[in-house]
Order: sequence, then C-alpha cells, then structure tokens
Amino acid sequence: MPTPSAPSSPSPDSWWRAAAIYQLYVRSFADGDGDGIGDLAGARAHLPYLAALGIDAIWFNPWYPSPMADAGYDISDYRSIDPVFGTLDDADALIDQAHAHGIKIIIDVVPNHASDRHPWFVAALAAGPGSVERSRFWFRPGRGADGSLPPNNWQSIFGGPAWTRVVEADGSPGEWYLHLFAPEQPDFNWGSADVRRDFEDVLRFWFGRGVDGIRIDSAALLCKDAALPDVTGDEQPGPAHPYMDRDEVHAIYQSWRAVADSYSTVNLGGRMLIGEVWLPDGSRLARYVGPGELHTVFNFPYLNCPWDAAALRQVIDSTLALAEAPATWVLSNHDVDRVVSRYGRPDTAFDLDRRPYFHSLPVDLALGTRRARAAALLTMALPGAIYIYQGEELGLGEVQDIPDELRQDPIWARTHGADPGRDGSRVPLPWSGTEPPFGFSPVGAAAAPWLPQPKEWRDLTVAAETAHPESMLQLYRQALRIRGSAPALGDGGMSWQPSPDGVLAFDRADARDAGVPSVSVRCVANLSAGPVALPPDASVLLVSGPLDDGLLPPDTTAWLRIG
Ligand code: NOJ
Repeated sequence: MPTPSAPSSPSPDSWWRAAAIYQLYVRSFADGDGDGIGDLAGARAHLPYLAALGIDAIWFNPWYPSPMADAGYDISDYRSIDPVFGTLDDADALIDQAHAHGIKIIIDVVPNHASDRHPWFVAALAAGPGSVERSRFWFRPGRGADGSLPPNNWQSIFGGPAWTRVVEADGSPGEWYLHLFAPEQPDFNWGSADVRRDFEDVLRFWFGRGVDGIRIDSAALLCKDAALPDVTGDEQPGPAHPYMDRDEVHAIYQSWRAVADSYSTVNLGGRMLIGEVWLPDGSRLARYVGPGELHTVFNFPYLNCPWDAAALRQVIDSTLALAEAPATWVLSNHDVDRVVSRYGRPDTAFDLDRRPYFHSLPVDLALGTRRARAAALLTMALPGAIYIYQGEELGLGEVQDIPDELRQDPIWARTHGADPGRDGSRVPLPWSGTEPPFGFSPVGAAAAPWLPQPKEWRDLTVAAETAHPESMLQLYRQALRIRGSAPALGDGGMSWQPSPDGVLAFDRADARDAGVPSVSVRCVANLSAGPVALPPDASVLLVSGPLDDGLLPPDTTAWLRIG
C-alpha cells in the first residue's frame, strides 16, 4: 500500500491534463452477482473492455455504504463499500487490477452532505439541541411561535423545502436540519473542526489504498453563511450568496490539495482533485483551480451548450482562457439527458432546471446519433482531458418512458412527478444478447435490472456494436486509439482556422515540436446545413460519417492529417 511522501511541486505526473476518463456508474455498469444491480465484481470483469476501449482512467460514482436515497450520494460510511457493490477487498483488488491495465482510479467523495443514517447524524438526533453532535450539521429552531416554520426560505435543489423538522428524544417536535438535497442528505457544517479533520482522513484513507483522484461532489456548496439568511429570488452565485461559491471553501480545498500532493510521488504518479462546480459565471471557476487548490473542474458550459458552431466556439474559447487549469470536455454524465437524445431535439441545449421542457420535445434519434458522433470527434480533438459517461460510447439514448412506479430518482418524487428526474440516463448497460438483461446480469440472475432496458437496445449492445464496423463503439475505439497515439492530440494548444459559417475548424500541432513545421491534425466539424469542402492537401484520419462525393456532410466531423 502506498505511503505519503513529502509534498512535491509541480506534480510528478499530471496525467489528468490529457486523460480520457470513463465515468463508471457502478449500479448500471455490470452486475456480477445476479441481483440486478451493478457491482465491483462486474466492473472488474469488464476491465479488459475498458482497456481495449482506450481509456486512461475510471471515475467511479459513489460506492460507499448508503441507504440509496439518492443512488449512493447519501453516504453512511466514507471508508467502506456498500454490500450491494461488494467489499473493501473487492475495491482493493479492482484498484490493483485497473493499475495493471494502466488505468487510474478516481472516486467520488461527497463532502456537502451525509446520509441521515451516518453515525454522526444518528448521534446528533439523539444528543439534542446545543450538543457538539448537532454542531456538525445545521440544526436550528423553527420560526413562528411554536417553531413550526422552517428557519429560512431555502428550497431543496431536489424540490420542496431545504429543512426537515426532527422529533426530539422526548417525542416533542424539535429543531430543523438543513438539506440542500433530499431530507435523507443532511448538510455537514464545514465550520466544524471535526468535519474538516474527518474528510482529510477520508482522503488519506483512499489515497493510501492507491486511488489516483477524487471527484468532489457539489464542490461549490460546502460553506454556508452561519446566519442562514433568507434568499431572494434573483440572488446570484458569488461570495454574497449564503450557500454557494463562498470564499471560505478555498481554505478547505487548499488543505485537500496538500493531502493529495503528499501522496504524489514519481513512482506512483500524481493524485488529482476534480471539482463538480456548477456556476453560471465561468470566470469564478478560476478561483477553484488557483495555485494550490483543485487541479481541474468539470466543464458544464460545454455540456449544456447547444449543437451550434458559434455557441460552441465561444464555450471552447472561454474554457481555454481559464489558463489556471487544464480543460475538461464533458458531453454527458449521470445527472443530465443522454447526448443522442439532446442532439436529436429541436432545442439541443440542456439545463438541469428545465428538464421537463426538454422531455416535452420530440426526439429524432437518427439525427441525434449523427450529431453525437460528430460531437465525439470534435470533443476528442480539443486540448485537455475528456470524460465519457458509460453508454455514451454505445450511443444509448435517454430512456424517457420508464413507468412511473419504477422511477427511483428522488427528484421525481420530490417534484410530484413534475420533473422526470435522471433515471433515464442511468439504465443498466446492454452488453450482449437480444433480450433484457442484455448480458448486464449473469445468466439465471435472481432479479431483473434495477431499471428496465428498452428492447431496442438489442442493436446497441457491446457485442452487436463490436460486430458492426460503423457503430458508435467502433468510432469511439478508433478515435481513442488515434487520440492516444497522435502527439498532436490531447494536451497542448490549438489554432482556429478560417471556415465558413457553421463550421468549426482548428489545428492541433505536435507540442513537442513547437516552432518546427510538423505533422498537425486538423479537426473540421460541419454544423452547417450544407456540405463543405475539405482542404486539398489533407488526408483523412477519421470521419464521423461517410463523406459525400469528397465533401463533409452536415453534422459530420473529420480528423485530417495536415502537412
Ligand atoms: C451531484 C451529483 O452528481 C448528483 O447525482 C447528486 O444527486 C447530487 N450531487 C447530490 O449529492
């Protein structure tokens, strides 16, 4: 097991700068024991698939013991594995096996909130008002003569009030506690020294087991104004906001960075911190990736951007202007609609707060798939790291017709069905065969997959797509192989090239040959309505769809070798 070393700066191996990172949503990846829920045995069994896909790292969504009120984002023990997923020994073996394949492991840590079954929260309920145990969370008396009104007007991000009233040990109605998400997810009070100390210990626990990176959930939400003031409707994120993007959070991440650096060695590689920071104002992101803080953050403006050349160019430019951190390029994750569905709608943008509207739009899956293929090549040509959400490489669509009684996402219940929630992007993967469970669970499994798989997925299984040279999977495999071996791709700079309206064209040069004329890769993405000519001196490396008489058709991207 690795031991911490003296802090090193700069990091001995900044592998995250250009990595291709696969997001593995463990419940839905592969079920090893036949209970209908994905697990670590299933993940281990499919490591060769991921190695052959050509990825450099895996990000695991939470795998800890959890009552699963929010699919594992309600953690009751940060130092173990939920029995439904396996054991700590399984995790150790998985980390070792992944490393043997040359794959790094990133795990999710959720510092904003615990589960209401976390021993600290259970102890806080028992200990009563004014106790040290309650000071680790946000307990407050209610408003109104009998305390029956919540302490302030904050709303839960999942719908409904952000406060729940407890019943005290003597059976009387008592204090309220804060939960920015579901009631089963009480927010930690980061003013508590116990909380700060314990999370640093959690980081050490996992870095010590060989984990290479930490994805920090809800990273901008941790610190709250202790006065807990009401918010007004138009309150914007920023230091004045009572619970978002507050200045105090940076001291926490600086100490986390020191922990990560202390485990980074030349032999073992750098340990990385990536923040899930949702902020409408991209310029404030720079504060999270400043010196001695997070290494990088997720690029949500890129994910939310419509399939529109001008809008994408603007997001790409503003991403690269954030010079403090290597760029990340993200098309989808477990919280948003799958990309082929988004790009098949008449409105191709996305916004978590407007999911019901997006779900009301018709979807042209063939169009969405063509665009998703083009987007994949555009994304993989950009300088920086890329994140691939499991199933993106198969071209799976958002499953919008899950029967109400099978929906699991608390967003669905908390909004009384007004928001369909995120289950549609979390349906278990199809691996093989022509019927559900499509190889997700072993033959003879005791239970069906935890969410139903569409029968149309028989054409989108790993096995079916492996047999089909033009499949999305084969496109991802080829693109990742080229990206991994062409020195011009991955990390480095890019230069925009002149192009007609609706077309994005840029060159990537081999960074090792700066100043020397060398082989470059040009990416041309045609988002316009008509075909465009390719440069005469270029040879085609890869194209997302067939050329039309030598021209690049609409919604198609080509990688070209120049020079
Ligand atoms: C962000 C995670 O990505 C999401 O899935 C989760 O529900 C919330 N944080 C709350 O933990």
